[in-house]
Amino acid sequence: MSERKPAGRPVRVALLGCGTVGTEVVRLLHEQADDLTARVGAPVELVGVAVRRPNKHREVPAELLTTDAAGLIDSDVDVVVEVIGGIEPARTLLLAALRAGKSVVTANKALLAEHGGELFEAADASGADLYFEAAVAGAIPLLRPLRESLAGDRITRVMGIVNGTTNFILSAMDGTGASYAETLEEATQLGYAEADPTADVDGFDAAAKAAILASLAFHTRVTAADVHREGIASVTAADVAAARELGRAVKLLAICEREVDETGGEAVSVRVHPAMIPRSHPLAGVNGAFNAVFVEAEAAGQLMFYGQGAGGAPTASAVLGDLVAVARNRVVGGRGPRESAYADLSVRPMGQTPTRYHVSLDVADRSGVLAQVAAVFAEHDVSIAVVRQQGRGEDASLVVVTHSAQDSALQSTVDKIAGLPVVREVVSVMRVEGEES
Ligand code: NDP
Ligand code: HSE
Repeated sequence: MSERKPAGRPVRVALLGCGTVGTEVVRLLHEQADDLTARVGAPVELVGVAVRRPNKHREVPAELLTTDAAGLIDSDVDVVVEVIGGIEPARTLLLAALRAGKSVVTANKALLAEHGGELFEAADASGADLYFEAAVAGAIPLLRPLRESLAGDRITRVMGIVNGTTNFILSAMDGTGASYAETLEEATQLGYAEADPTADVDGFDAAAKAAILASLAFHTRVTAADVHREGIASVTAADVAAARELGRAVKLLAICEREVDETGGEAVSVRVHPAMIPRSHPLAGVNGAFNAVFVEAEAAGQLMFYGQGAGGAPTASAVLGDLVAVARNRVVGGRGPRESAYADLSVRPMGQTPTRYHVSLDVADRSGVLAQVAAVFAEHDVSIAVVRQQGRGEDASLVVVTHSAQDSALQSTVDKIAGLPVVREVVSVMRVEGEES
């Protein structure tokens, strides 16, 4: 537990990193100094800012800047705010801070999703706080509700749009009918996508966030490696058009579900992939770079969290909220919530996870074709929910939407259908979410 500080003594803060987020943290600390003092019960004093290239940082008083992050942590500071990003040196620096009993606020989803367990253990050993609201969905208060407000409930599902870049791209594809490549170029020019967009478009960023969400929702340690991950690079204009025709939208979803496994025991599934959702679903109306997360809990029912998931000021808002919480704990001598991983549920492989597929085919328009396609679904024990066929001269467009089945059975079905001589082309294959199965 944090030691109670003598009345009136400032809470001393070290900031590691001063880029997009860090610059805004410095600004808010300065602009809101009086309010923060009143809210915390003591002044919050920024005593040092560690960066790589001090000459670049005119926004910070020169005497605060240092390149020696480890030395700054080792000095007389109470709280370390980390907005460097990446695994190293952030991991080593935060472990040193926590082991020395200094509370940590971080926005670093990649680090938490890979080494969260190690950081929590260090925090527990010294009694320090570890807060990370900004790591998932930027400004949106989401982790504290999961960690604290819903701690008395049983969460069954968390499903959301947690990456702004990919949501911007998919929304634009939906709006204009343009291809993925064209839209990515536009997103890069507008500054939504980074020069190297891999972490966003290949789903790594969303997978790290899904791991954090699942860990909190299901009281189980889930790492990024446990998350099934598919990005949006293979989403075509045809997929988006096929979704539109059926009153659906394509979104990159992070889905964390509580499930019953083959033995009747509880398990979780955690996945990130593009999916079609009905346009009537609240997540379908989340456009541009916005994030939204839908939470289902047994007693609370359905909850939706919506807002800006990225950007300097929105992310700094979440960092400052955490900073006030840990600073208050320092002042009154308490401690925030620890890691809760007691449930220790197993994470189910994607192949065993129940999903639904939308399959759009170009087939030969002659007798027996529909029966051949339907036979492959039956062979894999996949039940068909909807079939729609439209003739186009010698060919026909055939759309099949399945009921829920094991993902591996659905994959095998599609593979076999693709090889049928009567199937000219598999136009689109995508999972369907957000409707009754
Ligand atoms: P930036 O790349 O803009 O800033 C990183 C900062 O870290 C820079 O100031 C850089 O110094 C500093 N830095 C890098 N290496 C070191 C080092 N070895 N020692 C000391 N300082 C170092 O990152 P962001 O502000 O965009 O992101 C920070 C964190 O926030 C990441 O974990 C990110 O995932 C997370 N986040 C970011 C969001 C966003 O919208 N940007 C949204 C939500 C979370 P210098 O400036 O001198 O090069
Ligand atoms: N690159 C991320 C996004 C930033 O596009 O949402 C926030 O983590």
